[in-house]
Amino acid sequence: MEKTAIFFGPLDGSVHRIARLVASTIGEDKADLIHIASATAADLDNYSRIIFGISTIGRDTWQQKFDNNDWSKFFPIVSAYDFTGKKVAIFGLGDHVTYAYHFVDSMGLLGKTIKHQGGTLFGAVSPEGYTFQDSEAIVEGSFIGLPVDEDFEPELTEGRVNAWIQTLKKDFLL
Ligand SMILES: Cc1cc2nc3c(=O)[nH]c(=O)nc-3n(C[C@H](O)[C@H](O)[C@H](O)COP(=O)(O)O)c2cc1C
Repeated sequence: MEKTAIFFGPLDGSVHRIARLVASTIGEDKADLIHIASATAADLDNYSRIIFGISTIGRDTWQQKFDNNDWSKFFPIVSAYDFTGKKVAIFGLGDHVTYAYHFVDSMGLLGKTIKHQGGTLFGAVSPEGYTFQDSEAIVEGSFIGLPVDEDFEPELTEGRVNAWIQTLKKDFLL
């Protein structure tokens, strides 16, 4: 079976840790971990099943052109890419206490962009069990992907990732 790509950024933080956990839950031999800082559109071409891992660092800053922001470099590639025929799933790191009104917003912006670019999203998650006030990542009553809060709910992460991968096995990971 073709491998699943996990495009993630930034490096060495919570997103990276969860990207590794997602890879090991799927099976190391079935997933390629790709850090987005050096990724190109040609890397996206190589996969029909893609998982993106992203964190929300400020409502707007991640989209701006900061040299040290992986997503500011990769987001323009995603925005211009034709995802037609690709299966896509997203996990998003956030902090539901400090940023209750913008919980995992970046996951929402990324997901909406991928849909707009023709991709099919899998792995929507019910907001039940999450506490927050507002989120760009809620679409038609569900999170567009898997929210993970390593700052305030790390004890829930493994269960959330496991449940998500089980769901993805029904359609995405086929
Ligand atoms: C400056 C700053 C702004 C943040 N803004 C948000 C936010 O708007 N929404 C949210 O859910 N989390 C926010 N967070 C929390 C991060 O998304 C969270 O700590 C995440 O685990 C960071 O993962 P990373 O270290 O891999 O980037 C923010 C964190 C920082 C430091």
